[in-house]
Amino acid sequence: MGLVKLAAAALAAGATFFAFSARADGNLNLICSADVVICEQMEGAFEKKTGISVNMVRLSSGETYAKIRAEARNPKTDIWWAGTGDPHLQAASEGLTLEYKSPMLGELHEWAVKQAESAGYRTVGVYAGALGWGYNTEIFKQKNLKEPKCWADLLDPSFKGEVQIANPNSSGTAYTALATLVQIMGEAEAFDYLKKLNANVSQYTKSGSAPVKAAARGETAIGIVFMHDAVAQTVEGFPVKSVAPCEGTGYEIGSMSIIKGTKNLDNAKKWYDWALSADVQSSMKEAKSFQLPSNKTAKVPEEAPKFEDIKLIDYDFKTYGDPAKRKELLERWDREIGAAAN
Ligand code: G6P
Repeated sequence: MGLVKLAAAALAAGATFFAFSARADGNLNLICSADVVICEQMEGAFEKKTGISVNMVRLSSGETYAKIRAEARNPKTDIWWAGTGDPHLQAASEGLTLEYKSPMLGELHEWAVKQAESAGYRTVGVYAGALGWGYNTEIFKQKNLKEPKCWADLLDPSFKGEVQIANPNSSGTAYTALATLVQIMGEAEAFDYLKKLNANVSQYTKSGSAPVKAAARGETAIGIVFMHDAVAQTVEGFPVKSVAPCEGTGYEIGSMSIIKGTKNLDNAKKWYDWALSADVQSSMKEAKSFQLPSNKTAKVPEEAPKFEDIKLIDYDFKTYGDPAKRKELLERWDREIGAAAN
């Protein structure tokens, strides 16, 4: 009886201590630029592990970059996790993010460390993903459409109104697509291609993965997205097939950065180190997030698109992660594509 009482008292004391320490451990303001399901999984797991209360918002990569820039004098965000690497590099080169050399760097693949080095350690790679598209096999059968294997095939008139892609101003996925086409074709030809593609595009969405979710629901035939986002829909049971473009394709180094001026630096560092750990990255597949993890010992999900089977271009992160280049390409996109689309 004494023992039971003692245990109960210890438990009560523990519970009080935990409640107290949860408050004492404070807050973390997080912007998450991956899909909302993995964002929520990460938020919950971190809160459970540390007792730190996380205020999370999901925003696309380009939107986050714009927000962080606008709030530079009075930052409201502590850490930015995930989203394509280019806008993280742009934020780094404008001094909007903080230099941090995580003790976890030694556990990461070379591509993730290179991302950090090239930005003076103001960002770091958390995952990688290759660009492609997913299409709805049932719509294709009904409408007797032929599988588009190459970027060039997407211009076929049979796909009129059947393609969705995000807007590169808000979406890092769509900016990666824009920069990829410029690198494959040259700028003039890439814009010529995009003008022709515009005839087949029904909608430029805000978020990068929305087009393939629409394809999964049968609202469009083709969504240009990261291939792992197409695979996620197939795994959910939708009739979606993913394609790696025959001419070659670009890829993202999904990244993470601490915001300069954060009022919760210790907590931001805790998140940073935690998010680079093998365990956390191995559990991303539970949220059907099938990117390639940056930690060398994290489990690569079986479902992850095989990089060795994809013709990857030597994506020039330095050039396309530069703020002036981004501005120039987006202004041209607005003038020549966005304006025509409205
Ligand atoms: C999806 C992908 C991520 C990518 C993100 C970019 O969530 O799974 O790998 O980083 O899109 O989002 P955005 O809306 O900026 O294109």
